[in-house]
Amino acid sequence: MTEINSVTRLERDGDVALVILNSPPVNALSANVRDGLSEGFKQAIASDAKAIVLICDGRTFIAGADITEFGGAMKGASLPEVQATMENSPKPVVAAIHGTALGGGLEVALCAHYRVAVPTARLGLPEVNLGLLPGAGGTQRLPRIAGVEKALEMMTSGRHAPAKEALAMGLVDEIVEEGKLREGAVGFARKLVAEGKPLVKVRDNNAKLEAAKGHPEIFADFRKANARKFRGFLAPEYNIRCVEAAVNSASFDEGLAVERKLFMELMTGPQSAAQRYYFFAERTAAKIPDVPDDTPLREIKKVGVLGAGTMGGGISMNFANVGIPVTIVEVKQDALERGLTTIRKNYERSRGAKPEETEARMSRLTGSLELEALADCDLIIEAVFERMDIKKDVFTRLDKIAKPGAILASNTSYLNVDEIASVTSRPQDVIGLHFFSPANVMKLLEIIRGEKTAKDVIATSMKLAKQIGKIAVLAGVCPGFIGNRMLSQRQREANKLVLEGAMPWDIDRVLYDFGFPMGPFAMSDLAGLDIGWVKENSKGETLRDVLCEMDRRGQKTGAGFYDYDENRTAKPSPVTEKIINDFIAKSGRNPRKISDEEILERCIFPMINEGVKILEEGKAIRASDIDVVWVNGYGWPVYRGGPMFYGDQIGGPAKVLAKMQEFQGAMGDDFKPSARLEKLAADGGKFADLNK
Ligand code: 3HC
Repeated sequence: MTEINSVTRLERDGDVALVILNSPPVNALSANVRDGLSEGFKQAIASDAKAIVLICDGRTFIAGADITEFGGAMKGASLPEVQATMENSPKPVVAAIHGTALGGGLEVALCAHYRVAVPTARLGLPEVNLGLLPGAGGTQRLPRIAGVEKALEMMTSGRHAPAKEALAMGLVDEIVEEGKLREGAVGFARKLVAEGKPLVKVRDNNAKLEAAKGHPEIFADFRKANARKFRGFLAPEYNIRCVEAAVNSASFDEGLAVERKLFMELMTGPQSAAQRYYFFAERTAAKIPDVPDDTPLREIKKVGVLGAGTMGGGISMNFANVGIPVTIVEVKQDALERGLTTIRKNYERSRGAKPEETEARMSRLTGSLELEALADCDLIIEAVFERMDIKKDVFTRLDKIAKPGAILASNTSYLNVDEIASVTSRPQDVIGLHFFSPANVMKLLEIIRGEKTAKDVIATSMKLAKQIGKIAVLAGVCPGFIGNRMLSQRQREANKLVLEGAMPWDIDRVLYDFGFPMGPFAMSDLAGLDIGWVKENSKGETLRDVLCEMDRRGQKTGAGFYDYDENRTAKPSPVTEKIINDFIAKSGRNPRKISDEEILERCIFPMINEGVKILEEGKAIRASDIDVVWVNGYGWPVYRGGPMFYGDQIGGPAKVLAKMQEFQGAMGDDFKPSARLEKLAADGGKFADLNK
């Protein structure tokens, strides 16, 4: 064994040399790893070994470039140098893959002459998710090996293909037994030598590109089919252009030059900066400073859910999906049955649903009309009506029924978790688990820490969130927590703008163009304008009251803020416009022309200011947690990083403060800047400083 450097060693197994990387956690291609590879391969080539295997210790093969190095000066051996050494090796090079071969990791593997993988390995080029494209030849090699269509699909989705699929597309040459990667790879390498197999260089393999030559429609069709998905993002289009270059360039190197140029453009641009930031933001959100990683967890073997409505049903599905049995309690038999039927339909409707899988999941759900059925549950989540008196009643009763140590959670989206906890004899076991609708789909879980919530209850909830595929963010008790508290700022301004002369569709268009999937008014129409509206109490005082009174309750009634045709396509409504104009006339004001810029700033800047307040009050741990909430729960475009990151990108606290002050002068205290914002601006700071 030769130690090459701190993360690389060279070993021998008979006539096969092994270059072994050990750079936890994911063997990312840091300067050290590149140096180790460069030197390791040089020594292996110079030795009397007949073949070389590249393999990694730890949980995974190389999972990509080291993202922390991006944006700074590159040190050490360059990746193209390492790749050329491997590809030009006079002896066969075999990449042995377990875990994930991603991005630069797969690009390195594609410079080996052959690849073997264990069945659980996954391979992909996920750079698009970082606002990038594969910058180490992946855009030129993947279409050569897998074909143009497959390459387009994999590169623009960033999907990780399982080993079996990788084998079928030629990305992997052989699957070896799980747990026996080293033996399998060495055996494979020996066989190559014994059979005198050629040294395959993917770069020279043009057959699959030839098939796409003269067919520009492949790209046009792909762009068209995915236009909605790619809207606003630069990286998917740049990935497509690289594959086009692979097909249309006169040589591999010419295609590579296009890749290099477009890669650098993305790397230095704002979208990738935002998406790289976001990658780490999401992982940082899992870290709670005063709840250590080794906090003992409570065991959650059985979950109880109160309420079989949309929310309760969706919540239950999350647990059934990962093998945890759920007891769902409803008040009435028909509501329970309706809930369970809806869950079944949701399963059956989901893509690729296998009947046996649906049955297995349904078999984990038990319905009951008795609260006592929750007595043996380790976690009980209530998803009943959003009213404090009802929540208190539920928790009083749960306190009597739940077993000692059970976690009692409320799915409230707004209410005071401490007040809810106060009716129990065990406030330390009470926590908020705010799921977003549809709860089986939406990634975000706001976890609300009460004043007395125990640390192991927090740690268990965070871990459970990961288990059910959610991204959890810890928030403190305040009205609306992080997400809805900031949303109400935007909603207030949107409503005010309408009464000043902007039409709902103007506001929606501005926010849609910003990158949200839809604006607040289209959203209201989708959700139903009558949520929380009570006919008997309605006095036509607000635009919503009037619309609901006219039975314009949103998409479901064919009209709301917008008019809808039979395909539910929205059109600006002259009826709504007239109602708005009547309201304005009644107020004695004149409607004014409001610029798109003002609409955007008035909707977004008070949100950022509120975010600062949330941090000031200690209701969020760090600014990046707020961004994670907004990207995952409210459709904030990830290529803009989140409201706090965006605030820095457009000029930082000084700019946001100046605008808030300007608006405050003109329109009053809805725009009152937070003290912390004023201080940040005075200190010349950034919102990112609030991460510390
Ligand atoms: N660079 C630096 N750090 C990385 C990293 C990378 N490429 N990938 C993961 N990490 C870090 C994470 O930040 C995390 O650190 P922490 O423990 O301090 O929070 C740790 O490794 C473990 O990561 P996860 O928590 O994400 O672990 P999982 O087991 O859930 O997932 C993974 C593992 C699937 C490899 C996931 O980390 C991942 O998707 N990583 C990114 C892969 C990627 O995007 N690769 C392409 C990079 S760009 C590139 O290669 C450019 C090239 O074309 C030139």
